[in-house]
Amino acid sequence: MNSSEPVPSGKTVYLKDYAPPSYIIEKTELDVDIYKGETFVLARLQFQCLDERPQALTLDGEALELLDIAIDGKALDSTQYRCDHRGLTLHNPPERFVLTTRVRILPEQNTSLEGLYRSRTIYCTQCEAEGFRKITYYLDRPDVMSDFITRVSADKNECPILLSNGNKIDGGDLDGGRHFATWHDPHKKPCYLFALVAGDLAKVEDRFRTASGREVTLQIFVEEKDLDKCDHAMSSLKNAMRWDEQVYGREYDLDIFMIVAVDDFNMGAMENKGLNIFNTSCVLAKPETTTDAGFQRVEGVVAHEYFHNWSGNRVTCRDWFQLSLKEGFTVFRDAEFSADMGSRTVKRVEDVAVLRTLQFAEDAGPMAHPIRPASYMEISNFYTLTIYEKGAEVVRMLANLLGPADFRKATDLYFERHDGQAVTTEEFVQAMEDASGRDLTQFKRWYNQAGTPRLSVTDEYDQEQRRYSLTIRQSTPATPECAEKLAFHIPVAMGLLGEAGELALKLADESLDDLPEDNTHRVLELTETEQTFVFTDIPEKPVPSLLRGFSAPVKLDYQYSRADLATLALHDSDGFNRYEACQKLALATIQDAMLAYQQDTLAEFVPDSTLVQVYRLLLEDNSLDQAMLALMLNLPSEAYIAEEQEVIDPVAIHFARRQVAAYVGSELAELFRLRVSAYDPTREYRAQSDDIALRSMKNAALGYLMLLPTAEDLHLCLNQLARANNMTDEMAALTALVCCEDNTAQEQARDALTAFYQKWQDEPLVVNQWLALQARNPIPGALERVQALLQHPAYDGNNPNKIRSVISVFCNNNPLNFHTGTADEPDAGYRFLAEQILQLDSKNPQIAARLITPLTRWRRYTGDRGQAMRLQLQRLADQPGLSPDSYEIVSKSLN
Ligand code: TRP
Ligand code: ZN
Repeated sequence: MNSSEPVPSGKTVYLKDYAPPSYIIEKTELDVDIYKGETFVLARLQFQCLDERPQALTLDGEALELLDIAIDGKALDSTQYRCDHRGLTLHNPPERFVLTTRVRILPEQNTSLEGLYRSRTIYCTQCEAEGFRKITYYLDRPDVMSDFITRVSADKNECPILLSNGNKIDGGDLDGGRHFATWHDPHKKPCYLFALVAGDLAKVEDRFRTASGREVTLQIFVEEKDLDKCDHAMSSLKNAMRWDEQVYGREYDLDIFMIVAVDDFNMGAMENKGLNIFNTSCVLAKPETTTDAGFQRVEGVVAHEYFHNWSGNRVTCRDWFQLSLKEGFTVFRDAEFSADMGSRTVKRVEDVAVLRTLQFAEDAGPMAHPIRPASYMEISNFYTLTIYEKGAEVVRMLANLLGPADFRKATDLYFERHDGQAVTTEEFVQAMEDASGRDLTQFKRWYNQAGTPRLSVTDEYDQEQRRYSLTIRQSTPATPECAEKLAFHIPVAMGLLGEAGELALKLADESLDDLPEDNTHRVLELTETEQTFVFTDIPEKPVPSLLRGFSAPVKLDYQYSRADLATLALHDSDGFNRYEACQKLALATIQDAMLAYQQDTLAEFVPDSTLVQVYRLLLEDNSLDQAMLALMLNLPSEAYIAEEQEVIDPVAIHFARRQVAAYVGSELAELFRLRVSAYDPTREYRAQSDDIALRSMKNAALGYLMLLPTAEDLHLCLNQLARANNMTDEMAALTALVCCEDNTAQEQARDALTAFYQKWQDEPLVVNQWLALQARNPIPGALERVQALLQHPAYDGNNPNKIRSVISVFCNNNPLNFHTGTADEPDAGYRFLAEQILQLDSKNPQIAARLITPLTRWRRYTGDRGQAMRLQLQRLADQPGLSPDSYEIVSKSLN
């Protein structure tokens, strides 16, 4: 039976209902025979009952056509089992038995990109979270861990490469031009880590010698045409392997580690044991086609998936409520790795920017959930910024609270204690407690309370007593799962700035003997709703530098004057807070402009001069890291400004921000022009952080100049576009040109876009950047341009990267156009999105559900806009047969 009947929507799974499996599967033997248009999967599963024998055992299975079924070699008759669109139920199963099933599946028709599917010419799998059930009947849950032997067969010409997890133990030719390969994975694993690949792939090979002296073969498989884009992924992999040995004492544990790149992939990459499968966008890189951000993303994702080998695979999750156990921890690990490979502060600033625009928005919306959720409808919807990024922040707070030595003791204990097990976040924190002796009872509230805490800080200086006191109040807004929040344990890293620099700190209850070595820095541990910290012997009224390094994922309110912010931006010893002071100063300036916009006086508006004064001093300071400088000069994004508004006015935000940017650009034009003209566009490209830094500052300067360009500026931009030898500079120039409202520039931009496509049409990843640039271009008419792009031969409505480049980018990164639609239909952007979601929902529900995000924020927008957005959500809700993925998001958003 081939089941594509609609699955009933709205079934919720609860953490409190968790029960261990009644059976385990000791051994899993699969024969996967791939033919044109259909694949046969023969599974031999060794079951063992763990406790009392149940009356029935249900295996998960979806979109499978059952051909044969037997227990211990004896075919079952129809009274002994039942099959429906969710799975297979065995009545009265024995204590211990071998189940044999044979099913037929249709990978060529699988557009969900989950289970076994075909991407261009390559057969590949994606099993996390619950995709294995689309390959064979199984106990598709992470706490069932099995020994896997996989035999793959296919046509030898079509699929010369046949891969699965572990080590290859057999292979050879078969009749009819076919061949096979047999793989054995010696490590027991849950089925979500299963992988299989078959296709015509070329490979790059290298070796790595582990700390204990074992030789590991490293292979990256790509299409022949991409062989020249694998070097960066390979060196990133070797760096990650070395780093995990040095920083966590973790070695790789198989003789071979393989990466396969495919074009059609729902996410970035997948950590299948010994056989990672990657979105091409996260593996392939070369200077001519890949921007600096692209290079860094490859490094980060390669490391992330590699690090999962320990944080995820050797120690895995008991159930999907524990997803952040592996994802939060692994994001923390990859962020630290990237910090060590490049600039630590730059990496931190970039990550925090993502967290507090996108994750904070999620935490304030209808899908808010704690990093360990208590319930879900569709687990695919919970691969969120909260699970990943906020989860990483929680691990970071633990690492900082424990300090490097105890944190390392704790991770050693965690890996040793739970090797080969499927565990919970409780057990992770328990290892932290056991290794450090700290009581983390209150800290654990970060795992089960959603929402972003807000800290309100007030201070008082007593000149006579030379005492300075800081009072911090915490409160967390209600979220759907919980209205009343208990106080969090919040580490607030801080220092105090005086006229001449950082002040020596002594808290009233500290004795002189136990003052730390660095006496200008403290971590205040907030555990109450309100607490006052008193510093003694403070000679002057200081400017507080609070939440250094973004020591906790919270919002912080303190009434800084603009002069205070200038002091912090120029003099704070904490790089993150220097950046933060610039953001606050710029935000205040933009908020002034928004007020002017609302009073219709934006055209005459002259910004407060502090911002430009600070920027000027920073630009003249030659000691600054140029990448930090570029970030400090970067005005807060429209999304961040929106997140700071009670009611969002995307139009005011856009024009106010633009006005401030144009002012900065014209006031500092000379300095910016110097940066751009001093740069030699033909200098040799290196993806090293100091070179990246130079490019990012120079391109930031170009961006400012091109807001109101002189003929000379336009010439500089066109010159860079023509002569750039790398995609970072080429794309920066093209972007500046395309987004420039100047008429001459607009004409040039049209030709430049055409020429760029001509030049790069055979490089899909470059074409994606070309599509994304047009989708986020704020110049009016974007919706019409986007609709035209959907008809362009370069577009492919089944490819997630293309969908993201055009539809997601337009709806998320072009707020002005998305929220204003077309001249006669202001809601056209919303209707466009709903139509795209409906078209995609039955083909690829995971991607369709992700597209809904911008509409879920409807409550934050002014009356008409909010209602128009809601109307489109309602339209989705009314769609018969909507996928459970989309249904969950739509129904929770309308509630
Ligand atoms: N575990 C993967 C990672 O974070 C995430 C992932 C890859 C995924 N593909 C997926 C999650 C498909 C859900 C569906 O590295
Ligand atoms: Zn991950």
